[in-house]
Amino acid sequence: MELRTDRLLLRRWRPTDREAFARLNADPVVMQHFVGFARLNADPVVMQHFVGTLSQEDSDAFADRIEKHFEEHAFGLWAVEVPGVAPFVGFVGLSVPTFEAHFMPAVEVGWRLDRPYWGRGYATEAARASVADGFERVGLREIVSFTTPINVASIAVMERLGMTRDPNDDFDHPRVPKGHPIRRHVLYRIAAP
Ligand SMILES: CC(C)(COP(=O)(O)OP(=O)(O)OC[C@H]1O[C@@H](n2cnc3c(N)ncnc32)[C@H](O)[C@@H]1OP(=O)(O)O)[C@@H](O)C(=O)NCCC(=O)NCCS
Repeated sequence: MELRTDRLLLRRWRPTDREAFARLNADPVVMQHFVGFARLNADPVVMQHFVGTLSQEDSDAFADRIEKHFEEHAFGLWAVEVPGVAPFVGFVGLSVPTFEAHFMPAVEVGWRLDRPYWGRGYATEAARASVADGFERVGLREIVSFTTPINVASIAVMERLGMTRDPNDDFDHPRVPKGHPIRRHVLYRIAAP
């Protein structure tokens, strides 16, 4: 199972993706809007000042969870390849969030690309294909996406996809400690055509 767009191949993960994935997960600019969810799960109080980058070990554990998600749901966060340009530039795809919130259960579309591949339209192109697959093949009725209001690049992707925000859907992310500046999140939705 894979998806193809004009410029991209969205495919299952290969062991060789992990080195590049760990590098992008260790980049503080890529990770500026994350708080290190895996570690927060273990101890939110100790980790409240953790900046968001992932160690090689945590990055590999994340890749393992992505593979497991594909096995359980028949969809997931695709490894994104740009044929002729780069074998792995990050992930884009669908996932089932595991925290409690007013809009759950839900399926989320998300993305994380390595910095050299920003500003080329890859995230939007890959997300469009993922969302279409979610509606057509998986049969989803709605897909959501969420982020902190300061993540304007991510919000721009959501808006290019035709997703819309109702401010009444804004929420406090339960995995971000109270008082943390990125606890507040905006929610975007798109319904199946
Ligand atoms: C979020 C993220 C994927 C967005 O990347 P992005 O490059 O801004 O988004 P796209 O890939 O859709 O590219 C759009 C840009 O490419 C430009 N572009 C260049 N060539 C293009 C082409 N052929 N087609 C379409 N757009 C093109 C667009 O004009 C747009 O530029 P702009 O930002 O100056 O308006 C990236 O910033 C990222 O990985 N951030 C870190 C992880 C993260 O925060 N993830 C989201 C958590 S909720």
